[in-house]
Amino acid sequence: MNRARHSRLVAEYFSSIAGWYDFLNHFLSFGQDIYWRKRLVRHVRTGDTGLVLDLAAGTMDVTREILKKNPQSRVLALDYTLPMLTRGRNKMKFAGTKFIPVQADGRVLPAPDESVDSVTIAFGIRNIVPRSEAYREILRILKPGGRLCVLEFGSGKSRIWGGLYNFYLARVLPLLGRLISRDKGAYTYLAETIKGFPDSYELAMEIKKAGFSRVFYYPLSSGIVYIHVGEKAAG
Ligand SMILES: C[S@@+](CC[C@H](N)C(=O)[O-])C[C@H]1O[C@@H](n2cnc3c(N)ncnc32)[C@H](O)[C@@H]1O
Repeated sequence: MNRARHSRLVAEYFSSIAGWYDFLNHFLSFGQDIYWRKRLVRHVRTGDTGLVLDLAAGTMDVTREILKKNPQSRVLALDYTLPMLTRGRNKMKFAGTKFIPVQADGRVLPAPDESVDSVTIAFGIRNIVPRSEAYREILRILKPGGRLCVLEFGSGKSRIWGGLYNFYLARVLPLLGRLISRDKGAYTYLAETIKGFPDSYELAMEIKKAGFSRVFYYPLSSGIVYIHVGEKAAG
């Protein structure tokens, strides 16, 4: 599939589920997604620019968490699906002008070189094709010593909780997602992209090869999701 078509499909898909996105996330993960994002934000450093980019920000749950934990910082909430950003605005009233929603493509970031201290991306890197372009842009805009913090599902290849999770992912989740959102493709897409994604070790190697100097990662919820952190060389 060519890039333009892929981008259009991703944007159409997230536009169609934007209204249900938050509810489905919390419902289908039994509320664990809230904890996963909090864990991600612990790795954010705000440094001297005080600026963080939340890439593929969607309905801005990570943006909100960053500002709650670091009220002195400012967050650029970037996503290319406008209805997702619009949907998130209500939960950001407390933040005043500390966040800037931007509709843009994660492969061409509208920020100067070395202008942010951290970049977060939760459940977004899987959707960006090719990922190498996003890594290159993230490295460009990060200050030396800055961090890329990634939250993403594991590959789904290993059996979790005796195969119960794998069954849930492949069978129950698409059905529930379809019934609730009434979108035929909803959550089948999720299961398919999870299966096609590198495992945690491969993803760490990919981030390292992209040019990050120190990479570490660890599982949450028995490996349903992983956090990967990559640091840009201090210079
Ligand atoms: C699963 S949602 C994640 C939203 C949010 N980060 C969260 O934690 O819930 C993935 C988001 O990635 C966005 N996205 C996909 N490809 C993108 C790209 N190339 N540039 C910017 N955003 C992109 C989609 O529009 C969607 O809002």
